[in-house]
Amino acid sequence: MERCVLLAGNWKMHKGPKETRSFLEDLDKVLELENGITEAIVSKKIELALFPPFISIPTLCDFNHKVIKWGGQNAHWEEKGAFTGEISIPMLLELGCSYVILGHSERRHIFGETDEMVSKKVTAALDHGLSPVLCVGETLDERNGGNAFSVIRRQLLSALEGVDSTKAAQIVVAYEPVWAIGTGRTASDTDAQEACSFIRSLFAERYGQDVASGVRILYGGSVNPKNAAGLLGQPDIDGALIGGASLSVESYIEIVKEALSVL
Ligand code: PGA
Repeated sequence: MERCVLLAGNWKMHKGPKETRSFLEDLDKVLELENGITEAIVSKKIELALFPPFISIPTLCDFNHKVIKWGGQNAHWEEKGAFTGEISIPMLLELGCSYVILGHSERRHIFGETDEMVSKKVTAALDHGLSPVLCVGETLDERNGGNAFSVIRRQLLSALEGVDSTKAAQIVVAYEPVWAIGTGRTASDTDAQEACSFIRSLFAERYGQDVASGVRILYGGSVNPKNAAGLLGQPDIDGALIGGASLSVESYIEIVKEALSVL
């Protein structure tokens, strides 16, 4: 299978509709000049996806971008109901979302999401045909205590509990060590590769080699234009989940160029 590198921009709680529109206008100006990037997207060597706050998703939808995809940063597992403040998966689909980030460490650690909740969300997204970007990753204490891999295994296997092999290939996994998120501390290329390869091996154990080779595994945690090529050059890293560095067109595009350089 041809490798398609996914560069996902997780904007977190940044950029309302106005800023989103001006980001898209600026991005378009750059893409017009950088034919190589558009060609790489059209030929499916690279995929760009933006994850703005919910309120800015309609802006992406209305902009109807030809080459950029988008998604939500979270969703509830129920389709509708008395869940104040929540958004459902069908609602994201109505706004043209291709993906939904689930189980991000900020959701787990700040908002108390459990493995069980993440698992219900993953199952619901797949049932509706929306690809989850499932985040897993250990804290610094867990890594220092030698438990990184057992945490990754627990989070991953719990999220995959209700997922059969026909749907597993639609999942994108993002390995995001919590200690590397927003800290400027990146996992070394080797550590990131080792964790992503471990995640792939868990897919192989559960679903067989075909599904495991097709599933896309991203690295996330302080990815920037300087470290992107090293990380994206690793055999089991199929892309990046980029927080801070996806907020400016300039650094996002620099990362895209770094990705092209290692394709
Ligand atoms: P960061 O965020 O790139 O700012 O570290 C990554 C993420 O949380 O997805």
